[in-house]
Amino acid sequence: MTAPYSRISELPRHTGENVRVRGWTSHVRSSGKVAFIVMRDGTGILQTVLVKNAVSPEAWTNFGRLTQETSIEVEGEVRADARAPGGFELAVKELSIYGESPIDYPIQPKEHGIDFLLDNRHFWLRTPRQRAIARIRHETEQAIRDFFYDRDFTLVDTPILTAAIGERSGLFATEYFDEGTAYLAQTGQLYGEAAAAALGKIYCFGPTFRAEKSKTRRHLTEFWMVEPEVAFNDSDDNMRLQEEFVSYIVGRVLERRQAELKELERDVSKLESIKPPFPRINYSDAVRILQSKGSAVTWGDDLGAEDEALLVEGHDRPVFIYNYPKEAKAFYMKENPEDPRTVLCDDLLAPEGYGEIIGGSQREDNHDKLLARIKEENLPVEAYNWYLDLRKYGTFVHSGFGLGLERTVGWICGIHHIREAIAFPRTMNRLRP
Ligand code: 4AD
Ligand code: MG
Repeated sequence: MTAPYSRISELPRHTGENVRVRGWTSHVRSSGKVAFIVMRDGTGILQTVLVKNAVSPEAWTNFGRLTQETSIEVEGEVRADARAPGGFELAVKELSIYGESPIDYPIQPKEHGIDFLLDNRHFWLRTPRQRAIARIRHETEQAIRDFFYDRDFTLVDTPILTAAIGERSGLFATEYFDEGTAYLAQTGQLYGEAAAAALGKIYCFGPTFRAEKSKTRRHLTEFWMVEPEVAFNDSDDNMRLQEEFVSYIVGRVLERRQAELKELERDVSKLESIKPPFPRINYSDAVRILQSKGSAVTWGDDLGAEDEALLVEGHDRPVFIYNYPKEAKAFYMKENPEDPRTVLCDDLLAPEGYGEIIGGSQREDNHDKLLARIKEENLPVEAYNWYLDLRKYGTFVHSGFGLGLERTVGWICGIHHIREAIAFPRTMNRLRP
């Protein structure tokens, strides 16, 4: 058993006591007789003070060996000190070194280029900004799970190796024994629909994969998506669920992650306005708005990043664009009975130009219409027999959506590129670390 030690976050409770703390050295400075170490253990930042003639000779020698990221254990008394970060410091008696850190540690306190930082992602994660993003992602994931748990949704884990293709974007394929080609799931939705007929309200939440040759600030090849699916919800109910969900997530981060938002210098007033209802703009109206703003978009086109930025201009909360043309969207969306050129769907666009964070729709529940769409898209019908069966045996109105985790975290954090919103990003040209 290792000797008992304390986490930095617990130290305020131990004022006046002798404790041991383990962590990594961030900065050191010394005036010859008094030395300071700022260290980190993942739970907080601690300033420690060593007075030469109050510590063991060994501890003083060890201080001289410290470099950035040396891993250490210090022992001493916790003292309240208003000037120290966190309001307390450690008066050190002993200092021992676990692991030295050569002076060529790659991440130095200066500006580094983005490719260099990504090559050193395993170290970049240790910086205050990256830690703040990681904690906001963690809070977002927990908020997602709590939101659905509190509303009685059942979590269903859907497969990653699949035969049926869900979306139009690129596929990662691999040979699968004697069964032909397997694809890495682009979505869990089709399985979620089957589960919704069993459990009523479900969600799946996991990594999804798209072999997209897009080098934009909002595309990853591996990203996390949360996808609820609700039996007997129509498209309108679906949008209401989305606005409630997104507002809940943002509210939760505001409530519990102020320190991290501050570290990121996020303008929180922009997040405080995220409350239902969100504005809803019909696709055809969106095209008219875009044309009036000088966009070259014509009816029938899908909307690009620039169009999305124009549409959220002047709005202080996310905006729904609903009922897109059939051609612009996936095969499974329900035909709009009031305008069969369109489908009952929505994209939710984040404010401040962050673009689409959710894609949602009511699903085609008519067997023959769905079959016709599968054929029109040249998808292999035999891979969809089970999916078509859901329309044959007790078909039901149902809707759902997918929220991209990294895009949502990127927006909440106010960061430029979503690759910082995941610990080890995968993009077209990045598979390591
Ligand atoms: O709009 P998408 O493609 O919708 C679906 O996958 C549906 N099956 C969801 C459903 O109805 N159950 O993707 C949903 C969201 C997007 O709005 C975006 O936030 C995110 O997933 N997304 C990506 N995030 C990062 N990198 C990519 N390449 C992404 N592609 C989609
Ligand atoms: Mg989409």
